[in-house]
Amino acid sequence: MRITMIGTGYVGLVSGVCFSEFGFDVTCVDIDAEKIERLNRMEVPIFEPGLDDLIERNYADKRLTFTTDFDSAVGQADVVFIAVGTPSRRGDGEADLTYVYEAARRLAHAMKPGTVVVIKSTVVVGTCRKVAEIIAAERPGLDFSIASNPEFLREGSAIEDFMRPDRVVVGVVDTRGEEALRRLYRPLFLRETPIVVTTLENAELIKYASNAFLAMKITFINEVADLCEKVGGDVQKVASAIGLDKRIGSKFLHAGPGYGGSCFPKDTTALAATARKYDTALRLVETTIEVNDARKRAMAERVLNALGADPAGKTVGILGIAFKPNTDDVRDAPSLVIVPALQAAGVRVRAHDPEAQEQAAPLLPGVEWCDAPYDVANGADVLAVLTEWNVYRGLSPRALAERMRGRTVVDMRNIWPAEEIAEAGLTHVGIGRAPTRGES
Ligand code: UDX
Repeated sequence: MRITMIGTGYVGLVSGVCFSEFGFDVTCVDIDAEKIERLNRMEVPIFEPGLDDLIERNYADKRLTFTTDFDSAVGQADVVFIAVGTPSRRGDGEADLTYVYEAARRLAHAMKPGTVVVIKSTVVVGTCRKVAEIIAAERPGLDFSIASNPEFLREGSAIEDFMRPDRVVVGVVDTRGEEALRRLYRPLFLRETPIVVTTLENAELIKYASNAFLAMKITFINEVADLCEKVGGDVQKVASAIGLDKRIGSKFLHAGPGYGGSCFPKDTTALAATARKYDTALRLVETTIEVNDARKRAMAERVLNALGADPAGKTVGILGIAFKPNTDDVRDAPSLVIVPALQAAGVRVRAHDPEAQEQAAPLLPGVEWCDAPYDVANGADVLAVLTEWNVYRGLSPRALAERMRGRTVVDMRNIWPAEEIAEAGLTHVGIGRAPTRGES
């Protein structure tokens, strides 16, 4: 079975490469000629652990190709995936489906009869049906199947998530679509991965509702963390005990500076906007969005408070700029709110991130970028951890303390044992627990 993946963004590239790893012939197509050229030189445009090896292997074995030739790539495919971007539309927050519809119009003319068209991009309810209508209108009488196959990949562990998902969700309208997708995911069924075969609308909803639920779960524990700080609790203890209840589950209960990334902010906003369009208020989702936005601003306040009455002219060292570890992605990262808020108060910001500095530099003008984590501490009045990269966990509190001018560490991911920080003479301000004062 030949697959063509339209769009070599995060989802398209990872899915295409993983299907080739399953043994299928995959052509990845993109309108961005430079990106395709780079991929053909084995230069991977995103940082994703394990991806380069899979690309090199499958490319060498000729199961994986990259091209800008849309028509021939689509013309030879049995299954065409649409995995183009769906950014948030300015103004109403709904997902912008321009690229999806454009791809549908083009592929209608290029595909052979009997092709299965699968929407992998995250699209609001009703989009898959609309894509089918567009294809039918562009080429009346053409025999094809439409299907929805949302992805649940997390950046940083996308390959593992693709190879070992909790479930595969497939929305179909006929047996041809169902059979094609069952075949593509067959390698997973050896592991007894559940496959949910349902309608197009259900598949679209499952994706949004899953992400909104996870965003709510994080936001809930973040609010519990605020309360813990007030009443002398410890959110990590509370969260791990809550999580032992199987109905709740232990994952996505790490309190932090608020969720970011390419999915949760965009998908919660799009889901709320869709609901409003149908005169339904998803109040929990709306509140989640508000609370999360406010949290990022509150984190900037927390750092400013740690600087004392007159923050202007002081220096903050920031460890971690990416929205989470193991990615160079800074989309909707808390750092993009926190750093400018500090700078607006006249604070000098020094920062380090193992992967995201290049992406972040144009978005965060005025930041002094450091090559090594320890350099961030040099002369810092406050040190703040925004992303829980593993390389930060082992830093020596004493070595940090020696370099710093001030005595406070704001650990927004609770990566360091507060007592060890305190032993080095620094005050540890964590999330969801009382600060631990430095021993002098
Ligand atoms: C998410 C979904 O997990 C994935 O299924 C979907 O396909 C895309 O969106 P991703 O954005 O890559 O994946 O990252 P994820 O690991 O889910 O983290 C999202 C955000 O939540 C990050 O900012 C992270 O720091 C934050 N988070 C996550 C917490 O603050 N606490 C947690 O317990 C978990």
